[in-house]
Amino acid sequence: MTSSWRLVDNRSAIDESAVGAWSRRGVMAGLLGCGACGAVGMPSAGSSDDVSTPLKRASTLPIGCCMATGDLADAPLLALIKRNFSQITPSYEMKMGVILGPDGKCRFDAGDQLAAFAQANKMRLHGHTLVWYNIQPAYFAALTKDAAAFSRAYRDYITTVVGHYRGMVSGWDVVNEPVAPDGNGLRDSLWSRQLGADDYIATAFEHATSADPGAIAFLNDYGMEANATKRRTFLALVERLLKRGVKIGGIGTQTHISVDLAPGAAASAIADLASLGLPLHVSELDITVGRGRAASDAALATQAQRASEVVDAYMRLPASQRYAITLWGARDRDSWLRKPPYDPASDRPSPFDDNGRPKPMLAAMISSLKSRQ
Ligand code: G3I
Repeated sequence: MTSSWRLVDNRSAIDESAVGAWSRRGVMAGLLGCGACGAVGMPSAGSSDDVSTPLKRASTLPIGCCMATGDLADAPLLALIKRNFSQITPSYEMKMGVILGPDGKCRFDAGDQLAAFAQANKMRLHGHTLVWYNIQPAYFAALTKDAAAFSRAYRDYITTVVGHYRGMVSGWDVVNEPVAPDGNGLRDSLWSRQLGADDYIATAFEHATSADPGAIAFLNDYGMEANATKRRTFLALVERLLKRGVKIGGIGTQTHISVDLAPGAAASAIADLASLGLPLHVSELDITVGRGRAASDAALATQAQRASEVVDAYMRLPASQRYAITLWGARDRDSWLRKPPYDPASDRPSPFDDNGRPKPMLAAMISSLKSRQ
């Protein structure tokens, strides 16, 4: 698939070898970040004791992790995040369900705590997410009979939130998970019903890129590794929107995968999703070993192989397309997959174990990052 597209503000790609940043803001954060983490010389490729290398120092590529305000009281987790990650994504606090009250007013205290943490630790901040089928607040539901009022509220919400964090985020997941789970068409949602299937997306990107032209505007989805139909539908949607002149600045592929995923599937998905030439964000990487299944050594070894496959494929992309790789949970116990309704007991989808100790997945990621600058 090819398409002519232009960057949001004709920003040229930042040379990855310099600062591993992407947006104007990212350049400063990247420079500050490098200063902060003392990444003076890059570790030699394939150095023996990989897990002693902080993940963020294995490459100039921003390596992210999701965070919640509850994590701010967990000192061991904070230390692990500061040591290993150069970017954070609030897993919950910058979503409409937290920000927008029933009175239509926006409250930012939760998200601001994480924005302050990122700034204090010279980490990039990725905004997640402005519009999602999964969150349909009562305030909007009450406006469905008045199309003009709904559109105004939609504009005002996006403009207010993006404006509040203007200058603080390197990118936004403007719309999350627009494609139907099986990949056949787009999701039905309050937003698509009220504003139109493609139009709610186009309008969201219009408002977001107007409110902060310096933040890269991403369309983010999941399940595009095992389901090629979903990937094709997603890519067709992006291409259709780009042709309309929608300022999509990047693609987010969540990459919630399993040890059971066929070898090569994740790499193929990354290459395919990068085919439009847009920056790509591996935005929510975790690798489940399966609900209720003991994480055998074999399963953890397969998990490490899948992680290497993702990182190797990502690092083969042109530097101009490498936005970041973000883990959706640093330690196994922090994962969404360990919370209801999933498996609170056993899943081990993350690079660090419940006690913050490195797993084979971490060593594999570090080794792959080091080997491909
Ligand atoms: O913080 C409150 C706590 O005060 C309260 O006692 C507790 C019980 O109600 O809820 C806590 O908030 C929960 C929050 O996670 C904690 O971080 C919310 O109920 C819960 O809904 C929220 O779940 C998040 C979920 O998205 C829905 O927003 C998960 O953390 C987050 O990992 C998950 O992330 C999604 C991505 O946004 C999109 N891709 C899939 C991914 C996994 O589902």
